[in-house]
Amino acid sequence: MRGWGAGKLILCGEHAVVYGHPAIALAVDRGTTVTLRERPGPTGPGVSDVDDPRLRAALLAVLPEDGLAVDITTTLPIGRGMGSSAALAVALVRAEAARRGVPLSFDEAFARAFAVERVFHGEPSGVDHGVSLRGGVVRYLRAGPSFTALPTPSWRLVVLDSGIAGDTGALVAGVRARRVEPAVEAALVRIGALVGEAERALGDPAALGEILDENHARLTEIGVSTPALDGLVGLARAAGAFGAKLAGAGGGGVVIALVEEAGAVLAAAAKARVPAFEVSPR
Ligand code: MEV
Repeated sequence: MRGWGAGKLILCGEHAVVYGHPAIALAVDRGTTVTLRERPGPTGPGVSDVDDPRLRAALLAVLPEDGLAVDITTTLPIGRGMGSSAALAVALVRAEAARRGVPLSFDEAFARAFAVERVFHGEPSGVDHGVSLRGGVVRYLRAGPSFTALPTPSWRLVVLDSGIAGDTGALVAGVRARRVEPAVEAALVRIGALVGEAERALGDPAALGEILDENHARLTEIGVSTPALDGLVGLARAAGAFGAKLAGAGGGGVVIALVEEAGAVLAAAAKARVPAFEVSPR
């Protein structure tokens, strides 16, 4: 039995979304496939692209203790802010429902995938697996949770991979601890406001690019960027991107660059030997 889950990118609003502000995220055309095979003995990973000490506990949030091998293949870079754990959670929940032969409502799938996400990330906002399940471009609010479908944009996104994994749970916990600093709280509130501005500018890449640039600056203020990520943002902008920012929890992971055509940013990344690729919303 097989299930698939999409990866995601957060266009605007990560970290602030944890504290009730909105975020805009999109499901992407890369993701994770989970295949369940009956086998005697404890349930656990079979053939797996994912090497994570939390993996068995994550699997057992959804699967029985015994009797299954879980094969996992993914086209997502792992731990880079592209929702690899959310894609795994969604794929797993879908494969498990297919195994039982039962239809799964959105609410059920959301709740079950959330249990898997909590194993990986502590207390996430739910945006990652929510957008993976919904697909498309989505405005997400933790309260509810509420999802608003947004129009599919005409601009493109290039992903530049720092090659370094970030630890989402630790990064979210770090920001939570620093919220007592007025400047950090003010930056989170401003990020929330930027999401509203981004929603209004979705059809205007030049304006949206400026918003993404400011979003990156605010993420730097709350302490989740790194010199490597700032360097990738600079590289993308110098190559003509409308704007660029880290995407996801930070501390490593990827930068997204908003472009009309991917060629110039991809060429600049190749010259700098930075892995980069274009993604489309899915
Ligand atoms: C991680 O992809 C996004 C964060 O906002 C955490 C979360 O929303 O749970 C950093």
